Amino acid sequence: MHHNPISVTNLSYDYADGTQALHEINLEIKATERVALIGANGSGKSTLLRHLNGILLAQKGRIVVGEQAIAPETLTQIRNFVGLVFQNPDDQLFMPTVWEDVAFGPLNQGLAEPALTDRVKRSMAAVGLDFDRYAERAASNLSGGEQKRVAIAGVLAMQPQVLVLDEPSAQLDPASRRQLIELLQSLPITQLIATHDLDMALELCSSTIVLGRGSVVFSGPTEQVLGNPEFLRQHSLEPPLCYARPYCQLDHAPDTSPPRFISATLAENPYVSSFKVAQ
Ligand SMILES: Nc1ncnc2c1ncn2[C@@H]1O[C@H](COP(=O)(O)OP(=O)(O)OP(=O)(O)O)[C@@H](O)[C@H]1O
Ligand SMILES: [Mg+2]
Repeated sequence: MHHNPISVTNLSYDYADGTQALHEINLEIKATERVALIGANGSGKSTLLRHLNGILLAQKGRIVVGEQAIAPETLTQIRNFVGLVFQNPDDQLFMPTVWEDVAFGPLNQGLAEPALTDRVKRSMAAVGLDFDRYAERAASNLSGGEQKRVAIAGVLAMQPQVLVLDEPSAQLDPASRRQLIELLQSLPITQLIATHDLDMALELCSSTIVLGRGSVVFSGPTEQVLGNPEFLRQHSLEPPLCYARPYCQLDHAPDTSPPRFISATLAENPYVSSFKVAQ
């Protein structure tokens, strides 16, 4: 077991159009730790995750996973070690059937039948996809949530040591989201989870990293940062819904509506204030 399976030092990255997406990122993730990566849209979460299995290569700085620095010559080992579930399943699923998509990774790792089919079945079951119902279907015809589950199954099938997930609960129905949370809780491997689902972050991750405009603006206990509404607001975030649960239970509803953050500014917006409600 590696002590710090993910170590990022002074990582900066600019896209070709000049967008500075990451700036001097430093972070360490310990073995078997589950860490949430949160931050506003465009703060750099996906860009950072794409570096962790070498889809993007560091322009400046250094990333070590396991005991290996990420470099063109280590990419095969890196990708067996770090499994990345993309934010958008379209970027991940490209085979004609679900079976082939889930089998693709282990097949490339050299897994042969009958272990291969067994691995595919187990991975699909882990994300609640019925093998008989889905194996022969084309991923491109599935719903967004089903595609997300196929993408997660495909990464689980490779049995990575480190699991990196980009918005894993987006598009999942509540039952599938719950199943995902329980699955991630049960996996004894290091996990880094980029998410806007802060209730999930609170439930799963003892530590959280917050990105703001490509820099790490917080790294520490999840409860500490999610319990700081002012800091969250500064970074386009809000406390998890479970912190506001009394407002959600009708028996306990206060006389006034819960605060509506958008109303004041939107009401002053000439586009919105020109709307008339039909009588
Ligand atoms: N291919 C690209 N070319 C140019 N700029 C890009 C590209 N991809 C992302 N960016 C920019 O890099 C910055 C970081 O984007 P990134 O996708 O990493 O953010 P994010 O935190 O994952 O956001 P979200 O919450 O919306 O998923 C943004 O300013 C974005 O516009
Ligand atoms: Mg993203």
